Amino acid sequence: MNESQGFVVWFTGLSGAGKSTLAERLAPILRERGRKVEVLDGDVVRTNLSKGLGFSKEDRDTNIRRIGFVANLLARNGVAVITAAISPYREVRDEVRRLVEGDGSVFVEVYAAATLEECEARDVKGLYAEARAGKRPGFTGIDDPYEPPLAPEVVCHTGKESVEECLARIVRYLESRGLIPVAAEVRS
Ligand code: ADX
Repeated sequence: MNESQGFVVWFTGLSGAGKSTLAERLAPILRERGRKVEVLDGDVVRTNLSKGLGFSKEDRDTNIRRIGFVANLLARNGVAVITAAISPYREVRDEVRRLVEGDGSVFVEVYAAATLEECEARDVKGLYAEARAGKRPGFTGIDDPYEPPLAPEVVCHTGKESVEECLARIVRYLESRGLIPVAAEVRS
């Protein structure tokens, strides 16, 4: 166990796949295990750090590079960083991975693998309906690409599994890598 080893849990997946939910639920679990935690959520980042950016490939890549830059700064200072952005392009995700690993932190890519059908059926924000109606051109999964990771550290079938099942798999992975103590090891 190296409690000062920084790491980045990088969620990727379609809009509405459950990335933000998992990120928000994972954060307190990691804090209970003694880690300092920061969450960088795409929707939040786009209101400050990435304010003004749109959804062209260029702007999405800029958004992801910014999130990756900040995540890396935090991780190399021992923080457990959780990011939740669609991050649809494999190349820039891999670029962030290289940045993080190159600075000595651990990069854990978690694929929130809900299908388009599952995300669209829920359509929590009503954005898929808008995209289908042509009011949101360039919407990920509808008329804009999403490139699934080829070798993610963890896959969560968020359309079928419960949040608890997904969290348990992520936590087990982090434990197996020695990034967090197993629950019984935590001192009160
Ligand atoms: S990313 O592609 O740059 O990683 P990010 O995660 O920051 O995307 O933002 C995605 C969120 O923006 C979606 O969950 C949705 O609420 C909103 N959004 C608005 N327009 C689009 C669009 N064209 N494609 C995808 N998401 C969009």
